[in-house]
Amino acid sequence: VIPYEIIRKKRDGFELTREEIGYFVKSYTEGDIPDYQAAALLMAVVLVGMSARETADLTLEMMRSGEVIDLSAIPGVKVDKHSTGGVGDKVSLVLAPLVAACGVPVPMVSGRGLGHTGGTLDKLESIPGLRTDLSVREFREVLCRTGVAMAGQTDEMVPADRKLYALRDATATVESIPLISASIMSKKLAEGADALLLDVKTGSGAFMREESTARELARTMVEIGLRMEKQVRAFITDMDQPLGRAVGNAVEVREAVEALRGGGPRDLRDLTFELGGEMLRMGGVAPSREEARALLERAISGGEAFGRFCEMVEAQGGEVRAVEDPSRLPRAPVEVKAVAAASGYVERIETREVGLAAVELGAGRTTKESSIDHGVGILIERKVGDQVRRGEPVARILARTQAGGTRSARRVAEAYRVADEPPAPPLLVRGRVE
Ligand code: URA
Repeated sequence: VIPYEIIRKKRDGFELTREEIGYFVKSYTEGDIPDYQAAALLMAVVLVGMSARETADLTLEMMRSGEVIDLSAIPGVKVDKHSTGGVGDKVSLVLAPLVAACGVPVPMVSGRGLGHTGGTLDKLESIPGLRTDLSVREFREVLCRTGVAMAGQTDEMVPADRKLYALRDATATVESIPLISASIMSKKLAEGADALLLDVKTGSGAFMREESTARELARTMVEIGLRMEKQVRAFITDMDQPLGRAVGNAVEVREAVEALRGGGPRDLRDLTFELGGEMLRMGGVAPSREEARALLERAISGGEAFGRFCEMVEAQGGEVRAVEDPSRLPRAPVEVKAVAAASGYVERIETREVGLAAVELGAGRTTKESSIDHGVGILIERKVGDQVRRGEPVARILARTQAGGTRSARRVAEAYRVADEPPAPPLLVRGRVE
């Protein structure tokens, strides 16, 4: 097989066979196909698309690039959640230990920052010492011991997604229903969860800006789950403004810790409880929404959820002191305000721009080889519907340098649109797909 011919075939709008997809995934994972050819094929897929059959084949080939973990020895229905990516979306950090504290084991294979969105692994790694490159054995051990494990793709676990994910991040090849579906579902089918809840984001900070395409993405993933006999449900949720107030890495861990301790911003708490309630029902520990809600609230107020998070941090080599006292987490030294250009009500936030401002500060990568700065970030002071006066801050930027902070502050300020009248309040959960 000649890789060039496969790229050309997809470029010209034809369907690839199972063998061609399998060959490409395997050869790229093993290093026999270079980045530039893989990037060309990915771009062809972004532009041309894939059939449902090709998407399913890609998912399965990626899943089989590493070990498919068997967690049947661990009692209970294992339930996981995955987001399609957002700005300030630190839900996993709160949700996974919370659900585990309610008695549902959560095996979670997450990703790094992708495009303008943040990644759970990068956020977790702002905790000194914490490792996300767990071996399959370690992943299983942490899960057994604490009821929750949060790890990344490795050479053992979905190595194809590990490589393709990093390549897509740097080559503008993220926004594609088949590529996102295969990336997410290959991880989720390999990690050994019995049931999966998808948080499919829509709006200006999501990869699928339109609600109709977000629904199509949700349906595609639910169908792949169905074929593989996994219980998969999806929520379509709002990403028309950053979730919570913190955007970055350590700043998001700090906010997640607040939420685990019963505080934190309202939208973060509300979404975590919505998703958590569904997960508890999928896991069979709560028959109704009301009972699920009560269990979740008790796990927060009784301290079990935060306790579970600390146990997981410790089991993965992280410094528990740094989450007990988040002032020990990295924090960039320069603070610059982004100010409102007019007085009125925040009508709209071009959320992708906020995400890109964070990437530019160093919270994300611009090339595959970039290292990230865990201490930089953006603290949102005004959300959609909030009143603001001209010259007042809409956000605070935590930067490494004054020049970087000023550039980012300008970008964030320009992402805000202020109107005379308050807008209709945004709806957090827009719908569901089963
Ligand atoms: N999350 C993933 O794991 N993969 C994607 O492609 C997008 C979001």
